[in-house]
Amino acid sequence: MQKELKKLPKHIAFIIDGNGRWAKSRGLTRSLGHKAGFSRLEKIIKECFYGYGIPIVSIYAFSTENWNRPEAEVNYLMDLFRKYLNKSFLKKYPEVRFNHMGDPNGLPDDIAKKAKNLMDATADRDKFTLNIGINYSGQDELVIAVNNILEEGITHVDRQVIADHLFTHGQPPVDLMIRTSGEQRLSNFMLWQVAYAEFYFPKCHWPAFNSRQLFKALEEYQNRDRRFGAIKEEK
Ligand code: FPP
Repeated sequence: MQKELKKLPKHIAFIIDGNGRWAKSRGLTRSLGHKAGFSRLEKIIKECFYGYGIPIVSIYAFSTENWNRPEAEVNYLMDLFRKYLNKSFLKKYPEVRFNHMGDPNGLPDDIAKKAKNLMDATADRDKFTLNIGINYSGQDELVIAVNNILEEGITHVDRQVIADHLFTHGQPPVDLMIRTSGEQRLSNFMLWQVAYAEFYFPKCHWPAFNSRQLFKALEEYQNRDRRFGAIKEEK
């Protein structure tokens, strides 16, 4: 595959936006937009791991605000999660550890259980990690972290203590955040983890985000000058 790319992100995150608009422009239902988006998602996740060897991929699949969508759409998405979070994951994604980001308490019990079971079943896998945000909010993630810190009796926090209590504990921060559809906002996704991420906003809707688009995003990432607040030394 595209091995000529030298500087690849260790952690790439996707806000998969535009399924609804993609469907509408074709006279399809929103659920069919999510169907197409899901099939695209599986391809892109596999390409990131097995094509480019990117060790961590994060996906914003369902926010705490998405419950306000029409019931049929929410049900469709919940059924997608039910199908996805089962044993077939183990074979479909060899060497991938699954990590649920989000509050399990707000999810239907069976989905919360499936997510937990899959996390347990893949806990020993250490080559790749797939973080999926379902019932996720970046602000809630911080609130949950702070409450856990308090419950543990910790009386002084620093950045490391907070990072250690996030859903992504033990993982490096996001290097590259991609949001499709031309929208240029974070929508409460991984607020802490994107502190020094590079952002990339392709205009296409998520179901149209293909291998070529992924390559373009990674190619653009090569050319970004990441200084992390410092300056480049003059030679
Ligand atoms: C954004 O498009 C997409 C979503 C809110 C949900 C996307 C979720 C999936 C495709 C399912 C993923 C499933 C698994 C198992 C990981 P939008 O509906 O907001 O698009 P619009 O802004 O054009 O209306």
